[in-house]
Amino acid sequence: MEFTEMLKTYQKRVEVALQSWLPDENQIPTSLHQAMRYATLDGGKRVRPILVYTTGQALGVTLGQLDGPACAVELIHASSLVHDDLPGMDNDMLRRGKPTCHIAFGEPTALLTGDALPSLAFEVLANDKMMKTDPIIRLKMITELARANGSPGIAGGQVLDMEAEGKQITLEQLQTLHSKKTGALILASVRLGALSCTTISDSQKQALDNYAKAIGLAFQVRDDILNVETNSKILGKPNGSDQARGKSTYVSLFGLEESKNKAQELYKKALEELSGLGMELEPLRQLSAFIVERNN
Ligand code: IPE
Ligand code: IPE
Ligand code: MG
Ligand code: MG
Repeated sequence: MEFTEMLKTYQKRVEVALQSWLPDENQIPTSLHQAMRYATLDGGKRVRPILVYTTGQALGVTLGQLDGPACAVELIHASSLVHDDLPGMDNDMLRRGKPTCHIAFGEPTALLTGDALPSLAFEVLANDKMMKTDPIIRLKMITELARANGSPGIAGGQVLDMEAEGKQITLEQLQTLHSKKTGALILASVRLGALSCTTISDSQKQALDNYAKAIGLAFQVRDDILNVETNSKILGKPNGSDQARGKSTYVSLFGLEESKNKAQELYKKALEELSGLGMELEPLRQLSAFIVERNN
């Protein structure tokens, strides 16, 4: 299958699964349910669910078993975007080409939307009937996702991101910030795909972890580059905002050219990690190229 076709197939698949898990918007409180659907459906590249699908498929797991984990990672991601855009955080008005959740629904509803979505993510992992995993595996998945969303992951990374505004930080500090803010959920996405396979070996797990860490960092380096280079219409979110807020990014520390080199290096490292795995990895390789070459 062509990569663009594969991308669309997975995007549609996770959309259908998300639609069925999200509460109906006619159910009370309708404003909250409308906001949850607004923030999650019909938008975004779905990179994290596609990482779940491509990792799981490489390990021979059926797509039906991967829908639950794919939904769960996207629900966490969507919630993180709602919170990230709030006036107390990045104060952004555009996301995925639409007004941000707090612009459309007001700040209190957006705050609660960002709370309700992760709860649904954990409910999916605990209850999805298609996941043929035993309860121990489900608990491992829930633990992975809880950490990726909590202080070791997004919440911690977002605090470091805010604290680094207007400051000069070291490369090591920037890597820590990025690995928590963005890397943790990307790592969790690959791990959830891997955990769906009961026969995975320790060495395969380790190689996939190393792969995910490299591609997760590359993902955020690309995000930093796009914030400078691409216009807001293509991005579907504001551009130039990192510099305006004095954010610490790869570009602010190293400049554009060096950041592009860094993204390429990380991409190569990611592919090297995959090379010894002995599985059908072409889709994962193509997805990795998409992550470092994407324009939005
Ligand atoms: C944007 O993530 C926020 C970051 C973590 C850098 P994505 O670029 O995956 O956003 P969507 O889901 O496609 O909108
Ligand atoms: C968003 O990071 C990270 C999370 C939502 C966890 P950024 O603030 O750098 O991403 P964009 O540019 O708003 O998507
Ligand atoms: Mg931010
Ligand atoms: Mg932001």
